[in-house]
Amino acid sequence: MESVILKAAGISKYFHDPVSVRVLKDVSFSVNKAEFISVIGKSGCGKSTLLYILSTMDTDYEGDLWIDGVQMRNKNEAELARVRNEKIGFVFQFHYLLNEFSVLRNVMLPGLKLGIHSEKEVEHRAYEKLKILGIENEALKSPNQLSGGQKQRVAIARALINDPIIIMGDEPTGNLDKKIVILFLIYFKN
Ligand SMILES: Nc1ncnc2c1ncn2[C@@H]1O[C@H](COP(=O)(O)OP(=O)(O)OP(=O)(O)O)[C@@H](O)[C@H]1O
Ligand SMILES: [Mg+2]
Repeated sequence: MESVILKAAGISKYFHDPVSVRVLKDVSFSVNKAEFISVIGKSGCGKSTLLYILSTMDTDYEGDLWIDGVQMRNKNEAELARVRNEKIGFVFQFHYLLNEFSVLRNVMLPGLKLGIHSEKEVEHRAYEKLKILGIENEALKSPNQLSGGQKQRVAIARALINDPIIIMGDEPTGNLDKKIVILFLIYFKN
């Protein structure tokens, strides 16, 4: 049975402005189900750049990327957006919660966008995720009424709403004193 959920083969990335610089050189690795991976490196070495490529948000690179056995090359933007919404949960340092919506609604949004479950069902699932993170009592607040750590947990709940097979985080703990855990990928479904 196939257990590789993400595979990168020979990934290189150049930035051309102001001069051409190769930031990633021939990066190859694969991630199995249930594996937890951290990418460690000094500031500016290319961790976020790699994450943008692995998450399919940056398509301007050399090499190949497979997610859940599917080759990402030649997929159009709509197809990639679908892959992201269905298979990948993101937790970034700056969590981009929308203050005009409640905490609950923020968590629901990717689920509503996916469109597989009814709004009622998505709401139920969102509550379940908030409970796992211990913040269900904050569900009806606006994100700007929460502490930093609570916001972080809302972002994690939101990343889990569609039961992604991969979770990616760019400094997901947001702890500026410890620039260690930059990227993690983990298989979440049973
Ligand atoms: N849009 C861009 N144009 C040109 N150079 C860029 C661009 N984005 C990033 N870089 C350069 O690419 C390199 C890698 O940047 P990246 O953001 O991936 O680093 P990082 O490892 O995530 O660093 P940090 O730990 O500080 O977040 C850096 O030298 C950066 O200056
Ligand atoms: Mg970075």
